[in-house]
Amino acid sequence: MIEYALLLAPSSNRVYADASGRLARAELAVFARSGVLGTEPADIGERRIGGVPYLTFAAPEPGLGGQDIAYLANLSAAYALFERRGELLRPVELAPLGRYDSDLITIPKYAGKTNEQFTRLLLNITLLASASAPAMLAGGLVVLDPLCGRGTTLNQALMYGHDGLGVEIDNKDVDAYAAFLRTWLKRKRLKHRAELVPVRRERRLVARRFEAVLAPSPEAYRSGATQKVTVLNADTTRLAELLRPACADVIVTDAPYGVAHGSRGAQGLSRSPLELLRAAVPGWTRLLRPGGALGMSWNTHVAQRSAAAEVLAGAGLRVLDGPGYAELSHRVDQGIERDVLVAVAPAPDPGPQPASPPNLRREQASSPDPGR
Ligand SMILES: C[S@@+](CC[C@H](N)C(=O)[O-])C[C@H]1O[C@@H](n2cnc3c(N)ncnc32)[C@H](O)[C@@H]1O
Repeated sequence: MIEYALLLAPSSNRVYADASGRLARAELAVFARSGVLGTEPADIGERRIGGVPYLTFAAPEPGLGGQDIAYLANLSAAYALFERRGELLRPVELAPLGRYDSDLITIPKYAGKTNEQFTRLLLNITLLASASAPAMLAGGLVVLDPLCGRGTTLNQALMYGHDGLGVEIDNKDVDAYAAFLRTWLKRKRLKHRAELVPVRRERRLVARRFEAVLAPSPEAYRSGATQKVTVLNADTTRLAELLRPACADVIVTDAPYGVAHGSRGAQGLSRSPLELLRAAVPGWTRLLRPGGALGMSWNTHVAQRSAAAEVLAGAGLRVLDGPGYAELSHRVDQGIERDVLVAVAPAPDPGPQPASPPNLRREQASSPDPGR
């Protein structure tokens, strides 16, 4: 066996305090069981080397391959990876996905923002649970956040090369996201087009839609190798008239905590997100492609894990359990203990047809058609 030691990003301790090692272990366990790695990491543990805590694991000879390292570089807490040779550490080059400068994700700061490292963890484990796991590094998937706030998930999707599709009921959040992204794109001198337009059905205003099309280079933009981010300013329980079924590869969302940010439903502001989830999850499920996955976090002080899992199962999703998925609960602050559930939609019918060519899939993926 070849042994490895992963140094965790210093920010990890600030985000999760004493849970950082446990969460990193759980995330690595999900990578290990996802089926995308040629060599499955085993003996996952934690160890201090030279007084510094590391996540340690082993892989059978000849060790991790290039594709394995390309995946593991995106572990949300990864800072540096070493191969252990006796007492010595040999650095392993990591190249995490990063289409744009990282300040796309770090600049926005506001009350109610979901921590960016946690958002990446949630996106990773959801992508890895979905039928799209083999395309995680290739880009071109559609990541839907149906409670998107000011867009942390959407920006992380863009960083990975995917399209982002968000839904947010609060006008101020949508305006703030649109303003931030426009300013950021101009400041970075990235070619793009962006618009915020009303969406009407039979002359009735049903939503506002912010849409931006961008690319990391002028060449990519000119050749049409673009990414799209769309935010619908609408109620997430009423998406049937706004989005086509099966328009998303994954759904990644951080539900209202029932503290400062309540869930808004027909009855006004509610403390538990369960009412909102019961009203919204069946509609979200219809937006998932076959084999798509939903990853969700919420505050267990206001809704029990079993009750949240029941809502997902009730909508026809299969809730994942076992190593990794069941070990992600952590304290955020005095009023918030956050837990995570990942669930998958029934897999695509294997059928006799050959798989779609990647470019066809990309076209489909980039056209959620909110203006339907
Ligand atoms: C925990 S916050 C998400 C924060 C987001 N991940 C970010 O980093 O900006 C939950 C969001 O759900 C929104 N929300 C609550 N009820 C909603 C509804 N019925 N439809 C759409 N959005 C809703 C809230 O306005 C809030 O922005």
